[in-house]
Amino acid sequence: MTTITSTTELSNANPSQDAILLLTRDHKKAQALFKKIEDLKESASSAEKFELAKQVCGDLLIHMMIEESVFYPALRKAIDEEDLLNEAQVEHDGAKDLIEQIGRLEPSDPMFDAKLKVLGEQIEHHVKEEENEMFKEARNSDLDLNALGQRLVAAKKDLRRELGLPPEEIS
Ligand SMILES: [Fe+2]
Ligand SMILES: [Fe+2]
Repeated sequence: MTTITSTTELSNANPSQDAILLLTRDHKKAQALFKKIEDLKESASSAEKFELAKQVCGDLLIHMMIEESVFYPALRKAIDEEDLLNEAQVEHDGAKDLIEQIGRLEPSDPMFDAKLKVLGEQIEHHVKEEENEMFKEARNSDLDLNALGQRLVAAKKDLRRELGLPPEEIS
């Protein structure tokens, strides 16, 4: 009979608590939403476009906030990659600025589509750098990624509650 003998085994038994998997899942969700926005660009109504933009921008803001409050600070201590983390922060600041600009536009404004498309391209670049460089460094460090994942989940729950958003649906 197999028994779970330690808390490490217990947390390893639940892969959804792994910080890298959690963040990668957010990335995939945002990428899928940007693809949907691009596919529906010509056919969607302004209201549909607005809803999709609101969803992806809200998800991204929360994702960046939990990376900045939990993941990046832990990584700064665990790996010697200050430049990588500083560049990621600059990319977050750029994305937040663009999201703010999008929030001030009507979806019928021609610049709405343009800014949303550029946001998607910038996020694509940022995600590649995180997944191909930063996350690999995190995997090779002695960070407890399951403990970090639990902190990310808790931070996300708190933020969604503070912002009046329903609990996240995990597909
Ligand atoms: Fe990320
Ligand atoms: Fe990020």
